[in-house]
Amino acid sequence: MNIIVTGGAGFIGSNFIFHMLKEHPDYRIVCLDKLTYAGNLSTLQPVMDNPNFRFVKLDICDREGVYKLFEEEHPDMVVNFAAESHVDRSIENPEIFLNTNIIGTATLMDACRKYGIKRYHQVSTDEVYGDLPLDRPDLFFTEETPIHTSSPYSSSKAGADLLVLAYHRTYGLPVTISRCSNNYGPYHFPEKLIPLMIINCLHDKPLPVYGEGLNVRDWLYVEDHCRAIDLIIHNGRVGEVYNVGGHNEMKNIDIVKLICKALDKPESLITHVTDRKGHDMRYAIDPTKIHNELGWLPETKFADGIKKTIQWYLDNESWWQPIISGEYQNYYEEMYGNR
Ligand code: NAD
Ligand code: DAU
Repeated sequence: MNIIVTGGAGFIGSNFIFHMLKEHPDYRIVCLDKLTYAGNLSTLQPVMDNPNFRFVKLDICDREGVYKLFEEEHPDMVVNFAAESHVDRSIENPEIFLNTNIIGTATLMDACRKYGIKRYHQVSTDEVYGDLPLDRPDLFFTEETPIHTSSPYSSSKAGADLLVLAYHRTYGLPVTISRCSNNYGPYHFPEKLIPLMIINCLHDKPLPVYGEGLNVRDWLYVEDHCRAIDLIIHNGRVGEVYNVGGHNEMKNIDIVKLICKALDKPESLITHVTDRKGHDMRYAIDPTKIHNELGWLPETKFADGIKKTIQWYLDNESWWQPIISGEYQNYYEEMYGNR
C-alpha cells in the first residue's frame, strides 16, 4: 500500500505518519507538504531515514507538481490533512483558506480521478456543523446535522466537504470524510489554545482567554483521531462521513485553570481579552456511527492525555522554542497586542 499523506509536517498529519509507519510497517508513506508557517520538517526527523517514507515539499494547489508526484508514486490512497487550520488567522485573511482548503482539495481529487485511486480521504472538522447552545447539553452533532458554518475557516472546510461528496456522486471517486472534534497532544502548533497556554505559563506570561472562557470544546487525544482515520480508510464505507469525538466537553476557562494547576502557576496569569468574532459556543460530537460500524472508541482519557501533553512540552522545548522565537512573535503581537 502506497499512501500520500498531505499536510504531514503539521500537528495531526505528523502524528498520523508516525502511527501508520508503526502500525503498518510494510506501507509506503509519502508526505506532501508545502511547509507553511505551521509545517515543521524537524517534526518528521525521526522517520526521515525510514526507507518506507518520503518527504516532498509541494503545494496541494500546484496541479503540475501534484500530477507529477502521482505519476512517480502511483498512490493507492490519499489522506488529505493539508489545510490552513487556525480560525483566528482565517478571520484576518480568508483568501489563503479558500485557496488551500478548497482549490487544493479539488486539485488533489482531480489527480485521483486522472490517475485512479482506491481511496481519497478528507480530514474535515466538527466546525462544519457550526455550534450548539450552552443550555442544550442534550444536543450533539451527528453526520445528519446540517452544515452551518461560522468562520471563513469552517466555511472553507465545509466547501471542501461538499466538493468531496460531489466528486463521489458525479465521478464515482471512492471518498470518505472524517469530521473530528478538537485534538490535543504532541507537536500541536503553539498558536492553538492548549500549547499556547502551556508555553505562556512556562514563561509566566498572561494567559489570554477569549471573552468569559465559557465556550465548550470536545477534546480528543490526537492518537485516537489517527486510529479513527486508519480504521476509516481501511474499513469505512465509500461515500460516507464519520464523526470522531470522545464525549469530552470542557469549558476553555477550566482547561486553562487545569494547565495553571499542573504547572504550579497562579490563576492570576489569566487575562480575559476581547472575544473572537463569530466565536462558536459549543462543539459536541456524537460518535455513534464510527463506534457501531468500525468499533472505534477513544482510548486516552483527558486526565492522562493532558498530563502526557504537558510533559511533552516540558521535555521538547527544542521543538517549540525555534517556533516561538521566529515569525510567531509578529503573529502574537498582531493577534494579542491590543486585545
Ligand atoms: P496544522 O496547521 O498543524 O498543519 C497543517 C499542515 O498543512 C502544515 O504542515 C502545513 O505546512 C500544511 N499545508 C498548509 N497549506 C498547504 C498547502 N497548500 N499544500 C501543502 N501543504 C499545506 O493543522 P492540523 O491541526 O494538523 O490539522 C490537520 C487537518 O485536520 C486540517 O485539515 C484540519 O482542518 C483538520 N482538523 C484539525 C483539528 C484540530 O483540532 N487541530 C480537528 C479536526 C480537524
Ligand atoms: O473543532 C475542531 C477545530 O479545532 C479544528 O477544525 C481547527 O483546525 C482547530 O484549530 C480547532 O479550532 P478551535 O478554534 O476550537 O481551536 P483553538 O485552539 O483556536 O481555540 C480553542 C478555544 O479556545 C476556542 O473557543 C477559542 C479559545 N481560545 C483560543 C486561543 C488561541 C482562547 O480563549 N484564547 C486563545 O488564545
